[in-house]
Amino acid sequence: TPDLLHLHKDTLENSIVVVADVFRATSCMVTAFAHGVDCIIPVATIEECRQWQERGYYGAAERNAKMVEGFELNNSPFSYMDERLRGAKIAMTTTNGTLAITRSRNAVKVLVGSFLNLEAVARYLRSQSYDVLVLCAGWKGRPNLEDTLFAGALIERLKEEYSMMEDSAIMAWRMYNQGKNNLPHFLANSSHIRRLQRLGIHKDITYCLQHDLFDVVPVLRGNTLVCIEV
Ligand code: MLT
Repeated sequence: TPDLLHLHKDTLENSIVVVADVFRATSCMVTAFAHGVDCIIPVATIEECRQWQERGYYGAAERNAKMVEGFELNNSPFSYMDERLRGAKIAMTTTNGTLAITRSRNAVKVLVGSFLNLEAVARYLRSQSYDVLVLCAGWKGRPNLEDTLFAGALIERLKEEYSMMEDSAIMAWRMYNQGKNNLPHFLANSSHIRRLQRLGIHKDITYCLQHDLFDVVPVLRGNTLVCIEV
């Protein structure tokens, strides 16, 4: 059995990486797959996103929590609850989330995690024998509360299976246990919630904090996220 649960670590080669950007990129991805999207190509730049769009992909581009002009989809999970997207191929670039995924490509496997598919990710990891690294996307290189809380929530579900945790994992786990009974309250002053609220975005926050809505696990195959059901 694996004996480490990492957080924020530089070496990816021996680990399964779970990328989390719960507000809102990875929650969007999980919602998209749960609503029948075929695949998502996460890209680092707006230019790459445009190139995929020219090849017939739907384009989703966000910077600083706002939709970039010239693309079809914004970064709200509600925009993925759309019948027209059933079977669609999407190219997506976001400020932090898609960057974290593209930077994880050397890992054994890259999964997309959010509170929405928390138990599905935990179930998948229980069936594997690799170390786990939760890559919290944060905001422009800085840690944030919500992604660390997600890491803590995942650790809470997995702690029986892993014999050792790094201190950063213990921190996340303790923080989650402190806040879990009222996550919206615990997160009330956090930077991205303030940022989203300034833009009039409120319902995405409560939506993204719901646990275990979907059984989908997005997995990176080459440069493309596909969905496995667990
Ligand atoms: C990101 O990737 O930084 C976020 O998903 C930003 C957002 O909430 O739109």
